[in-house]
Amino acid sequence: MADHAILAGKRVLLVVAGGIAAYKSLDLIRRLRERGAAVRAVLTEAGARFVTPLSVQALTEDTVYQDLWSLTDESEMGHIRLSREADLLVVAPATANLLARMAAGMADDLAATVLLATDKPVLVAPAMNVRMWQHAATRANMALLESRGVRRIGPNEGVMACNEYGPGRMAEPMEIVDAIAAIFAEDAHRPLAGRRAIVTSGPTHEPIDPVRYIANRSSGKQGHAIAAALAKLGAAVTLVSGPTRLPDPPGCSVAHIETAREMLAACEAALPADIAVCAAAVADWRVDTESDRKLKKDGGGPPALALTENPDILATLSRPGKRRPALVVGFAAETGDVLAYATAKRTRKGCDWIVANDVSPGTGTFGGSDNTVHLIRADGVESWPTMPKDAVAARLAEAVAGYFAGK
Ligand code: PMT
Repeated sequence: MADHAILAGKRVLLVVAGGIAAYKSLDLIRRLRERGAAVRAVLTEAGARFVTPLSVQALTEDTVYQDLWSLTDESEMGHIRLSREADLLVVAPATANLLARMAAGMADDLAATVLLATDKPVLVAPAMNVRMWQHAATRANMALLESRGVRRIGPNEGVMACNEYGPGRMAEPMEIVDAIAAIFAEDAHRPLAGRRAIVTSGPTHEPIDPVRYIANRSSGKQGHAIAAALAKLGAAVTLVSGPTRLPDPPGCSVAHIETAREMLAACEAALPADIAVCAAAVADWRVDTESDRKLKKDGGGPPALALTENPDILATLSRPGKRRPALVVGFAAETGDVLAYATAKRTRKGCDWIVANDVSPGTGTFGGSDNTVHLIRADGVESWPTMPKDAVAARLAEAVAGYFAGK
């Protein structure tokens, strides 16, 4: 259980949407206030059909905000201030409708507007019928919100008010209190605050002609997760990303590039930095002379493509000099003799650490969700168990924080 002492003095803006679970939100208010948190509530029109504004007001001992168009509410507390004055926004219950409106960025009532206008962390506690929760639209909305940094607790599995069984019940008030305390504890852990980081991620596309290019199978999952993990620990992160299908990670500024030369230019533009992590799968070679017209199949046989070497971004960033980041971390993608090749690569490229991973067919390292890595430093090797790429990123970010803590 998370330490609830952290809740004392915290300001929670609770959005209560219209679901049968809204009655549990009254208990949630009570539990948060018992632990010293101040709770202010926004009640949607549907929410007010399940719990009365009067009971919410009595428990919060504050005004209950309901109407985007209320002159009284707006003069007392504008909706922007309402969303910014809180330390955390909690949506409980979060209905399928409100999740859809959040995902679409709508601002059609006070609840959706404060959620769109906020710059604070948001926790949602979904509650709905099991089929609604399992519907592809809700799954996609939830995944999109989570990729933007929205946190989620539940839903729990059990018998629903409609007598169906499955996931859809709102998490219990004490589970939500725990999740809130954990968010505050996590957000207070910012050992990289004040540090600047550059992270490269994804593949590069090296054009052959206007329609064809040389590429590789990198999805960007590992690099994007590292950018997000460093940002979560407080670093100001510039993610330099090749073409991927991933949304930009929360809290990072992102430079979208296509070629290795563009990636190098974007990294150099992001200097000075304290940390550089090169997780991108940069094409080692590009076509020497890119055709400005589509190459034609003219019966003369396949064209001969002369290749030339791309700049090495990791080696460039590692070069000694005033602008060299204090800690440069490379990756090594190997298909055999992983440790030996990666160790040699660390010396050859001049980086401080190298994260070695096996990318042999069948490992799923390229494009998959898990990774098995070895962290190679000058003083030895740490072999980590197979983990989701997010967990690899979190552990690497903590190792980076440990490096700076020892300085
Ligand atoms: O994107 P995912 O699908 O999640 O997959 C993750 C990954 C397998 C791409 C990632 O974990 C990884 O191993 N990234 C490095 C891929 C790579 O190009 O490795 P390499 O051994 O060829 O290169 C060594 C290092 O030099 C890497 O840090 C690379 O970013 C860097 N490099 C290489 C060539 C170049 N021209 N410039 C570079 O900076």
